[in-house]
Amino acid sequence: MKTTFTLLLSGMVLGLNPAMAAEDHAQHGHGMAQDQRVVLALTPPERAMLLEEMRGFLSGVQVITRALGKQDMQTVAVAARGMGQKMVHDVPPALRAKLPPEFRQLGFSVHGDFDQLAMDAESMKDVSYSLSQLSAIQQKCVACHGVYQIQPQMGINGSH
Ligand code: HEC
Repeated sequence: MKTTFTLLLSGMVLGLNPAMAAEDHAQHGHGMAQDQRVVLALTPPERAMLLEEMRGFLSGVQVITRALGKQDMQTVAVAARGMGQKMVHDVPPALRAKLPPEFRQLGFSVHGDFDQLAMDAESMKDVSYSLSQLSAIQQKCVACHGVYQIQPQMGINGSH
């Protein structure tokens, strides 16, 4: 219960709608610790695609952090641009249609933020400023992960 409240609260603070999470919680609840985040029901290939994009985010963030440590703003910009709007282009319409509007909005804003980080890294060459932008982006990673989970569409969990 405490966990649910914290998740809902962080969702509210970040402007996400907690109503779906609460609804999802009501359907489960076996008195055990459960993953109470909103479920995105995706096919295995859709899940694989989304998770691959996510791993791209994590390794991109690692490249940026390392480059900032060396004040290599050119590498920062290239890595950030790789996670910008141009990454959105090949999301299949069927997958897009399954993602809640709040999810898509948050995803879009992360891509836009990386483009902004890339531009500012090149023009300002200010490590502290880039770090503060990266931190703000990472808050969105944290927020989304706090609210959503992926489950296979054809219910492996259907047995309980
Ligand atoms: C709009 C929502 C959203 C945003 C923003 C987001 N993620 Fe994710 N991410 C997810 C979801 C959903 C999962 C699957 C979580 C689950 O099923 O437990 C995930 C999973 C992951 C995984 C696990 C990949 C795997 O192979 O299992 C990594 C790593 C990750 N995200 C990194 C990031 C990073 C870094 C950022 C920010 C730059 C980020 N994500 C932003 C929604 C998001």
